[in-house]
Amino acid sequence: MKILISAGPTREKIDPVRYISNRSSGKMGYALAEAAVKSGASVTLVSGPVSLTPPSGLALLISVESAAEMTDAIRKEAESSDVIIMCAAVADYRPVMAAEQKLKKKGERLILELEPTEDILAGLGGRKKSTQILVGFAAETEKLLEHAEDKLKRKNLDWIIANDVSRSESGFESDKNQAVILGRNGAKTVIPLQSKKEMAETIISVVCGKNNGGK
Ligand code: CTP
Repeated sequence: MKILISAGPTREKIDPVRYISNRSSGKMGYALAEAAVKSGASVTLVSGPVSLTPPSGLALLISVESAAEMTDAIRKEAESSDVIIMCAAVADYRPVMAAEQKLKKKGERLILELEPTEDILAGLGGRKKSTQILVGFAAETEKLLEHAEDKLKRKNLDWIIANDVSRSESGFESDKNQAVILGRNGAKTVIPLQSKKEMAETIISVVCGKNNGGK
C-alpha cells in the first residue's frame, strides 16, 4: 500500500524576507507518517517548512515552501497512491505579487492584495479513482461537526478528521490532540485527548482499514 501524507504549514512570499504562514507545527502530519511507516506501507511525505526530524523508513520526503509547490508535489505523487492524507495547513491565500526587493516602510497604511491558492484536496476529490482513499482535516474554531461534514461532502472525501483548534490543550503547537473521525458513509469515531502519536495510529488504522468510508 502506498500512502501519501502532507504536513506542516506553507509560506507565501511577500518579499525576500517576509511571508504569510500559519501556526501548524507539522507534528500531526509527521506522527501520521511515522504510524503509516510502522503499518508497513510505502510512505511519501510532502512537508512544508517545519523544525522536526522526519521519521525513518520513508520511501520519499519532498520538502516544499509554498502552496503552489505543495500542489505540484502532491499532484505528481497522487496518481500512484492508494491513500492520500492531506494534513498540511495549506495557505488559502497568497500575495498577488511577491516584491523582488524588501518592502520599505512608509509610515502609511499598507494594503496587501491576496489571491486564492488552489484547493489541493478539492482537486484530488474531483478526480479520485474508485479505489483511492482520500482523507482531509478540518481545523475549526466553531461548529466543528457541521463544518467538517460540509468539507467531507464538498471535497468528495472518504474520511475527515474534525479538529477543534480553539482548545488550548490540543491542536497546533501542542503534543496532544483530540478529534472526531467522520466517514463518508456515516461512521463516527471520537478520539479523546491523547498524544498525536497515539492519535496517528488510530487514524491510520481507521482510514486504511477495510471499512472504507464507514459503510
Ligand atoms: N487544503 C488543501 N488545499 C488548500 C487548502 C486546504 O488541500 N489550498 C486541505 C487541507 O490540507 C485540509 C482541508 O483542505 O485537509 C481543510 O482545509 P480548510 O482550509 O480548513 O478548508 P476550506 O475548505 O478552505 O474551508 P475554510 O477555510 O472555510 O475553513
